[in-house]
Amino acid sequence: MNRVLYTRNLWKVYPGDVKALRGVDVEVFEGEIVGLVGPSGSGKSTLLHLLAGLEKPTEGEIYLLGKDIVLIGEDELAKLRRRHLAFVFQFYYLLEDFNLLENLTLIGELAGVERAKEKAIEILEYLRLTHRLKHRPSQLSGGEQQRVAIGRALMLEPKILLADEPTGNLDLAEGRRIFELFLRLREEKGLSLLVATHNEELKVYFDRIYRLKEGKVEDRI
Ligand SMILES: Nc1ncnc2c1ncn2[C@@H]1O[C@H](COP(=O)(O)OP(=O)(O)O)[C@@H](O)[C@H]1O
Ligand SMILES: [Mg+2]
Repeated sequence: MNRVLYTRNLWKVYPGDVKALRGVDVEVFEGEIVGLVGPSGSGKSTLLHLLAGLEKPTEGEIYLLGKDIVLIGEDELAKLRRRHLAFVFQFYYLLEDFNLLENLTLIGELAGVERAKEKAIEILEYLRLTHRLKHRPSQLSGGEQQRVAIGRALMLEPKILLADEPTGNLDLAEGRRIFELFLRLREEKGLSLLVATHNEELKVYFDRIYRLKEGKVEDRI
């Protein structure tokens, strides 16, 4: 199996000598759903941000689809990220002045996706949100809004999805629906996922789990 993402000896030290990551090695293989768990402050978000290229590590290597994203230039990184990587946050960041169809279509158009509107409709069908096309985000439940946020990520047909506590604001039933969607994305679209969560009940969905503690991988399960 191919490794789609891996790190070597990753360190992140913030000003004030805050060691958020202290020599982290993780890997994600194609088609895996990998969990990232650990107490608040253990470095989960920092790790995901570095993997997404949103921040630079203090030291170490990050390979995304075989390329060292620390070494490549900004332009190449932006291209690689835009084409292959999606990031889903705990808070959905949908555009409240636009309906669901527009929320997805706009993202596609900005990224130069062809037939963005048709594609947006397809994805909203896939997410079983067709009856909500013309609704604004605030008219939906939290779980539905998170599905739209995932749908927005899917507009760019990513190979890898990184999610930072995507069910952190949802009740357990809605959280399960999000993870069932993740399983479906893996089966049907071949996505690989790395998902941070601290919800014990959702751990059954993971193939493997990394447990972080004080910026280190304490355990691989
Ligand atoms: N931008 C930042 N500047 C300074 N310290 C930060 C910054 N982001 C995170 N940290 C610190 O890094 C550590 C890890 O934080 P974080 O990655 O957010 O953990 P988690 O997501 O597991 O709760 C914490 O001590 C946090 O205070
Ligand atoms: Mg966090």
